[in-house]
Amino acid sequence: MGTTSPLKQQPHSFTKKLIAWTLYALLPIALLRLYFYPIPLPQSLTDQLPHNDPIIITTSSSSSPQEEERADEIACDYTNGKWVHDKLGPLYNGTSCGTIKDGQNCIIHGRPDLGYMNWRWKPKQCQLPRFDPNSFLQLLQNKHLAFVGDSMARNQLESLLCMLASVSPPDLVYQDGGDNKFRRWNFASHNINVSIYWSPFLVKGLEKSNNGPNYNKLYLDSVDERWAMDMNHIDMFVLSIGHWFLHPAVYFEGDSVLGCHYCPGLNHTEIGFFDVFRKAIKTTLKTIIERRGANANAIDVIVTTFSPSHFEGDWDKAGACPKTKPFKEGEKPLEGMDADMRKIEVEEVEAAKANAKQFAGLRLEALDVTKLSLMRPDGHPGPYMNPFPYANGVTDRVQNDCVHWCLPGPIDTWNEILLEVMKRWKGQSRKGG
Ligand SMILES: *[C@@H]1O[C@H](CO)[C@@H](O)[C@H](O)[C@H]1NC(C)=O
Ligand SMILES: *[C@@H]1O[C@H](CO)[C@@H](O)[C@H](O)[C@H]1NC(C)=O
Ligand SMILES: *[C@@H]1O[C@H](CO)[C@@H](O)[C@H](O)[C@H]1NC(C)=O
Repeated sequence: MGTTSPLKQQPHSFTKKLIAWTLYALLPIALLRLYFYPIPLPQSLTDQLPHNDPIIITTSSSSSPQEEERADEIACDYTNGKWVHDKLGPLYNGTSCGTIKDGQNCIIHGRPDLGYMNWRWKPKQCQLPRFDPNSFLQLLQNKHLAFVGDSMARNQLESLLCMLASVSPPDLVYQDGGDNKFRRWNFASHNINVSIYWSPFLVKGLEKSNNGPNYNKLYLDSVDERWAMDMNHIDMFVLSIGHWFLHPAVYFEGDSVLGCHYCPGLNHTEIGFFDVFRKAIKTTLKTIIERRGANANAIDVIVTTFSPSHFEGDWDKAGACPKTKPFKEGEKPLEGMDADMRKIEVEEVEAAKANAKQFAGLRLEALDVTKLSLMRPDGHPGPYMNPFPYANGVTDRVQNDCVHWCLPGPIDTWNEILLEVMKRWKGQSRKGG
């Protein structure tokens, strides 16, 4: 279907790319509609959110040069490694924590094989310690951590909350937006706030809806103020986006239309979503640097890289992501869209680091989870996005989620690495970035 007229005038490589965009777009459109059904945009969050006074974070002066060196030494490349069997298993289960989204609560939904919970990530050159909730809470003491992004941000947030709750149960202190899109928890034990802001593009956007256009509108030169307006009250961001960029969309820059992705019937130029994705991240990081760089309060920004999905068959047929074991080292190369999306994020974080160099209080890092996640085809809910999908036998059609991750599951590892980044930062001087 992707090979008709508009492609014919294009050079071959572009044609190939365009076919790829179209293919990437089609399956997820049907699928994502299931998960991300549109809701009306909520009113300004800050009208209702209680705000704390800005927190002054004392910088660096306490860490000695030796400590800095040690911190550099232990900086490990977490991206390359393998999954090894782990007897210990997860820190939580499907009932010990009240915040797991139904569709990701695989144990409770009757997933029969539970071996997927007994793997730990072993980076090539170092050890990745088991998540220590107490260390995390100590490092985050008196701070506000905000996850911003799409349902993958929520998936990671819920993993973190479940692990932290194993030592200190948080209170849900704020909730707004359908489907739990905006929430905040408080850990009274450590004066910590953890928030989630729904913002699937990070930049300003209008999500497609049943009663509006069936494509997204993205405004690539301004950030989404639903989260950005709270920026002065946030000490650490975890930004996580990606899959929403595969949807049909029209892209704006300033007052003009830049182009579109998969918008037959609209008279706009197809430009795919890779460059647009880059622009969205660039605008986001640039805005954070502009607004917070020169600010006396320190801020840390983590960008979680693209999370691969694992569809092997039709999304609505049994066995869409049937694997029950991780890939072995070298078995599954990182390539195609997964590789391209990750690369864009890593590059933009590096570019932003260079731009923020003069600001001692602003630190950025990519949480590079794409490869290790790619190696976990076994970690998705699949049919267990719904409770007991085979209670009446195997039916013709069954919805599958091969995008999000079961909780507990491989996504817990993302937060283990996040903790290591925070520990490394703690041991480093903020001076010189
Ligand atoms: C889940 O964890 C809680 C608390 O640790 C425990 O009481 C409960 O028995 C566990 N449930 C299952 C199904 O393992
Ligand atoms: C957390 O939020 C509460 C209000 O909900 C506020 O009083 C407190 O200062 C905040 N703490 C931090 C560390 O942001
Ligand atoms: C589509 O856009 C082109 C260039 O802007 C314009 O020349 C053409 O008339 C438009 N076609 C339609 C059907 O609007």
